[in-house]
Amino acid sequence: MNDHEFRQLLDRLSLSWQGYAKVRKSVKKRICRHMQKCGYQTMEDYLRALDNPEILTEVEYLLCVSISHFFRDQYLWKILEEEILPDIIRRYHERINVWSAGCALGQEVYSFAILWDTLKNRFDRLPRLLIHATDRNPGYLEKAGEGAYRSSILKGVSGEIRERYLRVSGDGSNYLFADYLKKDITWQLHDLMKQPPLAGMFQIIFLRNNLLTYYREESRIPVFLKIVDSLDEGGFLIIGCHEKLPFQSRMLSQCKKCTCIFQKTHNTIPRLLE
Ligand SMILES: C[S@@+](CC[C@H](N)C(=O)[O-])C[C@H]1O[C@@H](n2cnc3c(N)ncnc32)[C@H](O)[C@@H]1O
Repeated sequence: MNDHEFRQLLDRLSLSWQGYAKVRKSVKKRICRHMQKCGYQTMEDYLRALDNPEILTEVEYLLCVSISHFFRDQYLWKILEEEILPDIIRRYHERINVWSAGCALGQEVYSFAILWDTLKNRFDRLPRLLIHATDRNPGYLEKAGEGAYRSSILKGVSGEIRERYLRVSGDGSNYLFADYLKKDITWQLHDLMKQPPLAGMFQIIFLRNNLLTYYREESRIPVFLKIVDSLDEGGFLIIGCHEKLPFQSRMLSQCKKCTCIFQKTHNTIPRLLE
């Protein structure tokens, strides 16, 4: 498949050519295999086949990129630990809702659950935590829910964390997360582009390395606005460290110490990030 053909496919699905730059080769390979398996000789035939919702869904899954790491962008996690979470704990006593939108294989979700658990030593009382982890790809969600990772995927996870939160599986092939770490997490199939945001208000939304990277600019804005709408006033939006907001807005103020964190502002709420 040449670049022009791949671009036609991305255009058809409102996906960004630029966004796929780093993963183009591997994604193209997957698509070529799928075309062959289904017997489509040309991109024109393949694009026509996307009128069939089942084939469209298959292709959408093939275009998902699962790259992630535990504690990805380490500095972000430091600021979360030192500033953002203490602020949230001061303001919310009953419960906090966190949404990891596009959670891939769960690394971001377990990173957050671990960080939260470590705060139990620092604070007398924490609000109840509910983590809503969503992705459009059911295969990723299934794996994420199992919480089983090969050692090579656990890069960035210290020996101390492995010892405290993971055990080695019976056959020795995987590390498994402890059940008590999973109890606050709900895994849910959810497509950001096709469904409204999850019901409820969130104090933290992770929207990293998906909408703002892989989708074309014109399709990002309406989805982004709805997501920000479900962020509580004073809540925090976290984007990827190489991503930008789709527009400038006074509704979101950027953290000076960590530029991928934004606080939803409101006149009556003290603005932590100023
Ligand atoms: C590169 S991973 C990012 C994982 C994690 N957020 C991180 O930053 O490490 C992108 C994830 O977004 C998911 N995704 C892409 N488009 C989506 C959509 N429309 N709705 C929900 N999830 C989506 C993909 O399936 C994939 O799991």
